[in-house]
Amino acid sequence: MAKGKMTSIFFCQNCGYESAKWLGQCPGCKEWNTLVEEQVSKTDLKTGGGVTRRLGAQIQPSILADITITEEEKQVTGIGELDRVLGGGIVAGSLVLVGGDPGIGKSTLLLQVCQRLAAADKKVLYISGEESQVQIKMRADRLGSFATQMLLLCETNLDVIADVIRNTMPQVVVIDSIQTMYNENVSAAPGSVSQVRETTGTLLQLAKGLGVSIFIVGHVTTEGTVAGPRVLEHMVDTVLYFEGDRHASYRILRGVKNRFGSTNEIGVFEMREQGLTEVQNPSEYMLSGRPHHASGSVVVCTMEGTRPLLIEIQALVCHSNFGIPRRQTTGTDFNRVNLLMAVLEKRCGLSLSGCDAYVNITGGMKIVEPAVDLGIVIAILSSFRNLPLDPHLLAFGEVGLSGEVRAVSMARQRVQEAEKLGFHTVIVPKVCEKDCSQVSGIRVVGVSTLQDVMDFLLG
Ligand code: TYD
Ligand code: MG
Repeated sequence: MAKGKMTSIFFCQNCGYESAKWLGQCPGCKEWNTLVEEQVSKTDLKTGGGVTRRLGAQIQPSILADITITEEEKQVTGIGELDRVLGGGIVAGSLVLVGGDPGIGKSTLLLQVCQRLAAADKKVLYISGEESQVQIKMRADRLGSFATQMLLLCETNLDVIADVIRNTMPQVVVIDSIQTMYNENVSAAPGSVSQVRETTGTLLQLAKGLGVSIFIVGHVTTEGTVAGPRVLEHMVDTVLYFEGDRHASYRILRGVKNRFGSTNEIGVFEMREQGLTEVQNPSEYMLSGRPHHASGSVVVCTMEGTRPLLIEIQALVCHSNFGIPRRQTTGTDFNRVNLLMAVLEKRCGLSLSGCDAYVNITGGMKIVEPAVDLGIVIAILSSFRNLPLDPHLLAFGEVGLSGEVRAVSMARQRVQEAEKLGFHTVIVPKVCEKDCSQVSGIRVVGVSTLQDVMDFLLG
């Protein structure tokens, strides 16, 4: 492509906001110091539109009613946790973005996907711009044996990659990572917003045109030096984020966008010596090592997509030595905890204003669902009163400002999960009690206010 006159544009490396001049704070995502200057040729900016306009006279729109759907067969990867997050399997011609912090296990996961697919006689091509063939081979050796259907390419030039894909026609391609790929026609450095956008656009055309499914790895960075996956979320069909506590061995794969299935599904994995293994029963896994008969600890049930997950909430409340008490939360919303403490103080008469409070969701999980409110309140109450709770007690419900316990969705599934894991008693919002009582083998206690909760626990 002939390069036109160059012009410089400032791109936010976090969200992709464009500006003609430098700004300290990005108006798009409110991050500071994320705008970086990139050289873009004026012809680049004008691409798109022109071809369609010329051919527009010959192209006819289709009648929606006439379009027949051939039921797309989804290609299962054989990794159950991943298949569920993908919405049943890989759709032909789809573009899937796998984002996550460096070192979290994205390359490992995708190499394992390739391993399974190759074993199922699918032609897969793994393209790495980060590691050498020997490095990938060393990683692959840890994961087990690979079938001959698994092809490997170490390359960063997207034109070369596009040719190789056209020539080999694999069914699934992995691009590791998008930040290392470059298009010669774009003058900006690899990893910059314009490069990442341009290369993803090319991959999108390849995927749709050839019916190849492409997985794209994208690193999430906070420094703002490399364009994060957020700038290409809107271009791809599915966005999965791989997250987890660096210090814990489990990893959570979360679907945040999916054109072929429901979002908010999670898959739980554990990083072992031989790669990632699926965690079939995450609730059991999350609760392992829980202290019994300690005050300030209670188990709640949160929903991750369609899946109930039991999590322990811990609170530590002690007298403050300073005028302004210290409050700290890990894994949950700080302001929400402050609000719930105010509700406890006002509606239940607990004098918490002179107390330091620490609330922790164990296992490095992050939960913002209001259904954990009741768990937070009970954990605080238990720690404040120094009252150890029954280890087989579980609670969930949203707490309102007047101290009322409000309904939550999918109450029955939550109670079923609790019953499955051997809990004896579950505290639920009164309105959900009838629905939950249908689950046998567990005592269901319906509460309508925080006072009811206190009466039950202390009475
Ligand atoms: P990797 O997939 O390279 O991360 P990413 O591609 O997201 O940057 O994962 C690297 C980490 O995983 C590294 O710390 C080593 C660890 N690991 C294992 O614990 N077991 C294994 O079998 C493999 C392959 C990696
Ligand atoms: Mg990697």
